[in-house]
Amino acid sequence: MEALDPIETQVLTTDDVELAGTLLRVGDLVAIPTETVYGLGANGLAADAMDRIYAAKGRPSDNPLILHVCNQSMVHRLVRHITPLEQTLMDTFWPGPLTITFEKSALVPERATGGLSRVALRCPAHEVCREMIRIAGVPIAAPSANRSGRPSPTTAEAVLHDMKGRIHAVVDAGPCEIGVESTVVQVEGDTVIILRPGGVTKEMLEMVADHVVYDTALHDPTEAPKAPGMKYRHYAPDMPVQVLVGSSSAVVESIQSKVPMYKRIGLFLSQQTWDILIEALGIKPTTISEDTHVSQLASFGVGADTQDIVTIIFGETAEPVSLANQLYEGLLAFNEKDVDLLIVEGCKKEGLGVAVMNRLEKASGGQIYIIE
Ligand code: TXA
Ligand code: MG
Repeated sequence: MEALDPIETQVLTTDDVELAGTLLRVGDLVAIPTETVYGLGANGLAADAMDRIYAAKGRPSDNPLILHVCNQSMVHRLVRHITPLEQTLMDTFWPGPLTITFEKSALVPERATGGLSRVALRCPAHEVCREMIRIAGVPIAAPSANRSGRPSPTTAEAVLHDMKGRIHAVVDAGPCEIGVESTVVQVEGDTVIILRPGGVTKEMLEMVADHVVYDTALHDPTEAPKAPGMKYRHYAPDMPVQVLVGSSSAVVESIQSKVPMYKRIGLFLSQQTWDILIEALGIKPTTISEDTHVSQLASFGVGADTQDIVTIIFGETAEPVSLANQLYEGLLAFNEKDVDLLIVEGCKKEGLGVAVMNRLEKASGGQIYIIE
């Protein structure tokens, strides 16, 4: 990654929205809270400000940015036209975790769209975020505020871990509510094409559109995805990751067969699976700490030739909403724990589970095992 001259990163609070909005307007980089993940914000009409986003993230220049607006009236000067279905999507899902791509107007710099003719727009549900955009008075370009390829940040601490010294400020508004990014869609005729699954599910889109399909590139690796960012390795922690999907007892059986092969293994599990595992291994955790926002972290040794098992529990059962909520923070927490292999209990590809499993597929480089 290119070396940048370090800048002092201010940590702001939600009382500082006036300052944050002003910094954004004048071209500074400010990490902003949204309901999905923290974004790395900059003035979306200023090419030089967006250049700084690409440099700070180490992001490939063909991967376009989402412009964030504070209301629908901001959209009109950024797009050439709005179709009735696009209008319905905005009326139904904004403010919220839905990003819609439109034919861009001349006002939108090519820098925002990586040279594409369409611009991606989203109006976030997070009120502090919308207030900052209103004060800035311009659309705010904001990719997730991680270094390219790493898990997205859902807390200000995670932003600082990747971006301290590279951005002017971060606005700390606590953990993000949803935990995975927005759904990115493109409308073609009467069809909504999902380019990236996210916070607004296919089932939700089907309530207002007759035809909702996934971009075929999402399940065919030989095709170029319409959202350029989907082709890159992503969300990856530092160690190898395997994802197991199945009943708790099937997951436990598979974990038991792997434990002896690793010195230090990480487990990201539901409470239910964890309880069965403890029973099966006949051990009790030696330490339980609350040192992350994720619910519980336990570490213990097994057998004479001690192996360490580091576990984080993400929820009662392997249910998409809680897994989404804890996903990136969990992956980042394991980076600190120096494990040789991370096993993640996945969930069904239903509702928000489609987005969660899409992120886990990227994080694991495709190492997903269905064991039912
Ligand atoms: O929830 C979110 O969407 C977060 C928060 C900060 O709003 N933002 C985010 O941005 O996830 P980023 O840059 O990490 O991901 C944007 C995705 C990428 O896959 C990119 O390729 C796609 O949206 N995208 C952006 N503009 C596009 C366009 N004009 N056409 C197709 N895909 C586009
Ligand atoms: Mg991202």
